[in-house]
Amino acid sequence: LKIALVYGGKSSEREISIKSGNAVKEALKRLNLKFEVFDPVDSIDFVNRLIEYKPDLVFNVLHGKYGEDGSIQGLFEILGYRYTGSPVKASAIAMDKVLSKEIAQITGIPTPDWIVVENIKETEKWNVFPAVVKPNEEGSSIGVEIVNGREELCKAVENASKLNRQVIIEEFINGREITIGILNGRPLEPIEIVVEDGFYDFENKYISGKTEYIVSPYLVQEEREKLESYSLKIYNKIGCKGAARIDFILKDGTPYFLEINTIPGMTDHSLLPKAAKAVGIDFDNLVLEIIRGALD
Ligand code: DAL
Ligand code: MG
Repeated sequence: LKIALVYGGKSSEREISIKSGNAVKEALKRLNLKFEVFDPVDSIDFVNRLIEYKPDLVFNVLHGKYGEDGSIQGLFEILGYRYTGSPVKASAIAMDKVLSKEIAQITGIPTPDWIVVENIKETEKWNVFPAVVKPNEEGSSIGVEIVNGREELCKAVENASKLNRQVIIEEFINGREITIGILNGRPLEPIEIVVEDGFYDFENKYISGKTEYIVSPYLVQEEREKLESYSLKIYNKIGCKGAARIDFILKDGTPYFLEINTIPGMTDHSLLPKAAKAVGIDFDNLVLEIIRGALD
């Protein structure tokens, strides 16, 4: 089996992808699998090298635009290569937070109220604070801000607009942040994220070292069941494959869907590897399971 390990890329999450990709690279070495590393930072060169290599499988560890959003999945489809993770359509839908929330809603999964704006003027339609401002198609909390009033709201929307045309203004639900990893259609252990200062932003995800991750947090049975069933429902409804991670805010027994990630982080801070470990799947086996999922 010849594997093309793809990471890096051109999105705002490039640095995170490099961390995730390096971790997978070490695992592939330990597993004695045959692989080569590709960084699609230069698209033409990438495609030429990939075609020359003729992989049996692409292991995709790109996060964000062009890597997680269906576009590179389309390239792999055209070239006839098998690849890890979700297919084109599911990737594209999951990258779009608004579309994912709309699908959650019609599937009967609660999600915080929201509006979509494309300019500052439209922020007048929003009157509830605190609120969360997010660029519609970014990851790793890049451009995400919690705002407490109109002035902050306008500033945050302006900043987020530089990243994406569409910006979400979302109701801030002050609850517990819980994430559920799914591996090949099977939910892993829930993880609760407890942040010391502020919220789970880029700093608290990858830099501060102060964020606490509680694997298998205390949950009443009904909460746990809802988290698992909502996660599976949205994963299946969108048409995901392989690994995914679904983020929720849990309040008063109700999990509110925030988003689904189709190429979850694989860094040493990342949640999917912790969630897998809790059910007895260590990092190397997680990598193997992701490969298996792609070969099915
Ligand atoms: N977007 C980051 C990498 C994650 O979902 O873990
Ligand atoms: Mg995300």
